[in-house]
Parts: sequence; C-alpha cells; structure tokens
Amino acid sequence: MSKEAEIILDGKSYKFPVIEGSEGEMAIDIAKLRDLTGYVTLDTGYKNTGATKSAITFLDGEKGILRYRGYPIEQLASKASFLEVSYLLIYGELPTTSQLEIFKDRIMKHTNLHEDIKKIFDGFPSSAHPMGVLSSAVSSLTAYYPGSIDQNANDEEVDLTIVRLMAKLPTIAAWSYRNSKGQPLMYPKPKLGYCENFLYMMFGHPNEDFTLDPVVVEALNTLFILHADHEQNCSTSTVRIVGSAHASLYSSIAAGINALWGPLHGGANQEVIEMLEEIQASGISTKDYIAKVKTKEVRLMGFGHRVYKNFDPRANIIKKACDDILNKLGVNDPALAIAKELEQAALSDPYFVERKLYPNVDFYSGIIYKALGLRSDLFTVMFAIGRLPGWIAQWKELRDAKEPIGRPRQIYTGYTERDYVSIEKRK
Ligand code: CMC
Repeated sequence: MSKEAEIILDGKSYKFPVIEGSEGEMAIDIAKLRDLTGYVTLDTGYKNTGATKSAITFLDGEKGILRYRGYPIEQLASKASFLEVSYLLIYGELPTTSQLEIFKDRIMKHTNLHEDIKKIFDGFPSSAHPMGVLSSAVSSLTAYYPGSIDQNANDEEVDLTIVRLMAKLPTIAAWSYRNSKGQPLMYPKPKLGYCENFLYMMFGHPNEDFTLDPVVVEALNTLFILHADHEQNCSTSTVRIVGSAHASLYSSIAAGINALWGPLHGGANQEVIEMLEEIQASGISTKDYIAKVKTKEVRLMGFGHRVYKNFDPRANIIKKACDDILNKLGVNDPALAIAKELEQAALSDPYFVERKLYPNVDFYSGIIYKALGLRSDLFTVMFAIGRLPGWIAQWKELRDAKEPIGRPRQIYTGYTERDYVSIEKRK
C-alpha cells in the first residue's frame, strides 16, 4: 500500500500522498494543501522544500554522494571530458564517439561573437567586475538572436540556442577579460578543444606562438566537470524560476550568473583566496583567525554547505588535484599551506564539528585558478562556465516537463488595513 501523510488541522484530518524518488528520497506531496485546508507551508530558504522532480543530478549530503545522470562524480572527473559531461547533462546519456564529435564541432563552429558585442565590453569601465559583464553580455545575446525569445520555438531552434550559448560563454569571458586589460581580443580557434580554445583566448597573443600546457588543460577540464551541476542550488533555482516564466534561455542563464556571483554561492571562491591572502598579509595566526570565526566576527569562506553535512565530494577531489597541479606547475603558494592549516584547525574544533561545517568546492579551487594564472575576480566566471551545462539541462527539463510558473506564497506580517492619511496630516 502506498504511504500517506496525515495532517490534522483544527481537529480535521487530511491525507497527502507520499512520493519516493529513485534513490529512496521521500517527500510529502502537498500540491492540494491550500485547496483542501486553506493553509500554506512556510520554509524560509527552502531548507525542506523540494521545488521539482528532476532526473539530472543525485546528491546525498549525509553520505557525500554526487552523481550526474547516475554516474559518480569521481569517475566523471577522472575519466571524462567536460564536453562529454555537458552532453550527458543536457541530453541524458553519455555520447557515442560520433555524437561527441558532432556536438563538439557544432559548439566550436559557434564560438565567434557578433562584432558589435565588443562595443558592450567597451561600455564598461575597466574596473567592472567580470561577473556583471558576463551576465550583461549573455542577456544581450537575445538581441543578436531574437529567435531565442520565441516561446513557441521548436526543439531544433532551442537546441541551436543551447549550442550557441555553450559556444559563446567562454568567448564572452575571455574577451571581457582581455578588454579590461586593454589587450587585443583573440578570435577563437575552432580546431582546438573547448578548454584549450578558452585558454588560448585568455592567454594567447596575436604576434606570438601559444603553447598549451597539458597540466593546465587537464586542471581546467576537471574543475569544469566538478562544477557542471549541483541540482537545485541558488543559481539553478534562479534559472528554473526565470525559465518558468517562459523567459528565453539567455535571460534565464544571465539571471543564474547573477545569483552565482553572490559570495555565499559561487562568489565564495574569490572570497576564499582574498581571505587567505589577507591572513598571510596580516600575519594573524590561523588559530586567532579561527577564534574570530567562532565569535562570528568573520565567516570562514569556503566552509559549510546547505546540503553537505559530512563532506563535499568535490572538495575531496579538488584538494588532491590542488596538490598535484601546484607540484606539476612548480608553484609554491603560501595560501595552500594556510588553507590546510585552517582546515586542520577547523575539523578538530567543536564549533565546526557540531555545526557539520566542512570545506566545500570553493575552499581549494581558487588556489588552483590562481596557479593557472587567473585573476581572483575571474574565479567565479570559471564556475559559471563550468555550471553552464547544468543550468541548461535544468532549464530544458523544466521546459520539456511544461512546469508551471514558479510563484511561492508568503505569510504576510505587515499592517492590517488602514486609511490613507493626507500628507499635511502626517506626523
Ligand atoms: N563560517 C563560520 N560559521 C558558519 C559558516 C562558515 N563558513 N557556515 C555556516 N556557519 C554557521 C552559522 O553561523 C550557523 O551558526 P549558528 O547555528 O551558531 O547560527 C550554522 O553554521 C549554520 O549555518 P547557516 O548559515 O544557517 O547554514 P546555511 O545552510 O544557511 O548556509 C552556506 C550554507 C554555504 C551559505 C554557509 O555555510 C556559508 O555562508 N559558507 C561560507 C560561504 C561559502 O563557502 N559558500 C560556498 C558554498 S559551496 C558553492 C556552492 O555550491 O554555492
């Protein structure tokens, strides 16, 4: 017999179906709650609320499990390419050799930007944060590809928008960076791989040969995979809610980029490196810094997670990769030693143990990005490029399922009705 949940309100009993996910996750389906009872639920920060059914990513925060379409993150990060994982997320299955080739060719063919987009970069002061430029430029794609705002576009047209976005986001990121430095923009080289082409556009020069370091390419590939999806996090929920109003893919992703920018979300990777550098510059001991965290004077950035309460499997992979990459590149960054000391101190301290606070994906990723030669304000841009296929997959899933517009309720706590007071009578 299928399970039911009983809610008793004002002495009356109401039954609600219990639904079970494919990994045994249980939920009470309260779709009819308000109709039947007049009540709504209140769950600030959505700590207990499932916003959708999704077949893309499975995450068990207690056991530290993360899988894309059933495949463990550890296997994907060590064996797959970022485009392979993107295909998996967006279309549901790992591609065959020919499917992957076609996907790659289609993407690389669309990597150029409309020349006029350069004027958008010129319009920003060189001090502009690249995340603001990124979201603005992605929004602007609706103007260059007006078909993307047609909510009746067929699947083929939507797929072209998906391919264009995958293709153009790295070019937007690289060009806005080059523009901010007054350096010549590097046109994409479609013959290169996705990560290779991005590095070429970021660090190449028109009058010099460019040599790709396989260690750097591999590191970027791994980081992009680790960031590729994370089910209903803040930016993905933003993408889905904007998409639920039938806004275009470009508009929905631009909104996701803005959400990701926040320091409690993807913006944490920049905050972590700035925190580590500040600790180094000020000479404060890690013990004293931890003491400041415990009195809540500062937050230990890169620590804690809404869903991981044991360990973040992405952080485990990144920590190991960080050691490897710095060794291979011959980089000796004191920030890494400080990060390890902080982690050690935190993991044995009751404040962190009781609150189940562990290093998250952002704790060590910034150290790698820095070793790859990236400026700290670009770290969250890297996160956005990595997260793009996940956002797209989630937007597509919502569209295919014809999900209704996202529109939460509230519990109103303001004034009850009162009469307008003319301005001369106000005190
Ligand atoms: N440093 C110090 N204390 C913390 C931290 C931290 N990083 N994170 C949580 N706490 C404390 C918090 O003060 C609270 O303590 P108390 O019970 O005494 O009030 C308790 O732990 C629970 O924290 P919370 O803020 O209610 O937890 P949350 O689930 O709402 O927030 C979080 C999750 C990630 C926003 C938070 O842990 C945080 O701000 N971490 C630092 C920012 C960060 O690294 N963000 C990146 C997250 S991973 C990338 C991504 O997917 O977004």
